[in-house]
Amino acid sequence: MTDLPAGRFITLEGGEGAGKSTQIARLKDKLERLGHAVVATREPGGAPGAEMVRKLLVEGPAERWDGTTEALLHFAARRDHLRSTVWPALKRGAWVISDRFADSTIAYQGYGYGVDRRMLDKLYGIAVGDFRPDLTLILDLPVETGLGRAAARRGSETRYESLAVDFHGRVRAGFLEIATADPGRCIVIDATRDIEAVAAAIAAAVRVRLGA
Ligand SMILES: Nc1ncnc2c1ncn2[C@@H]1O[C@H](COP(=O)(O)OP(=O)(O)O)[C@@H](O)[C@H]1O
Ligand SMILES: [Mg+2]
Repeated sequence: MTDLPAGRFITLEGGEGAGKSTQIARLKDKLERLGHAVVATREPGGAPGAEMVRKLLVEGPAERWDGTTEALLHFAARRDHLRSTVWPALKRGAWVISDRFADSTIAYQGYGYGVDRRMLDKLYGIAVGDFRPDLTLILDLPVETGLGRAAARRGSETRYESLAVDFHGRVRAGFLEIATADPGRCIVIDATRDIEAVAAAIAAAVRVRLGA
């Protein structure tokens, strides 16, 4: 999407309870104070059609879908999210912050369930093309800490949380490998610290990488 102007696309990634939602609210406020128009969005979802697909993915029993079916559903939702929300906002010059994006599909369906990476990369090409986040912040913390935080939060969207701890361990390792392989795009943030310290680390990363 080389014809897109000034807007920037930032994604937050990491396991359940890492603090993504908490930190996105902070980062949105911060960027707005700097004068940017900001759209905070999330995956799966972030557009009416994609939110319908989200319900299929985050509710119900863990064994509802196999990894490949899940990957297809995530990329279908992702394409709708991009076309309906992300690309139009970037075109207007807004900064878009997404709570999860394609790295979550690589980490959960790829590293977690063992779906073939080449297939996921092919689906990325079909659904997303050569568009990439300008910056990806990977919030990293031990699985048990994240699941403990997530359990304290109420809700019906527990399908992924209900998967085994070793699954979440593979997801965490997957995110770290993604970051190592793509250091120009990704920064790992130590998410074990308190909310203010994590927010400061994120603000510093955005300033260094994107000049904001
Ligand atoms: N740095 C932190 N330290 C302690 N608790 C946190 C921290 N960040 C978030 N939390 C709390 O942990 C829970 C999960 O945070 P949340 O932002 O919803 O995570 P995520 O969106 O990554 O699943 C929330 O109750 C939140 O208030
Ligand atoms: Mg969240």
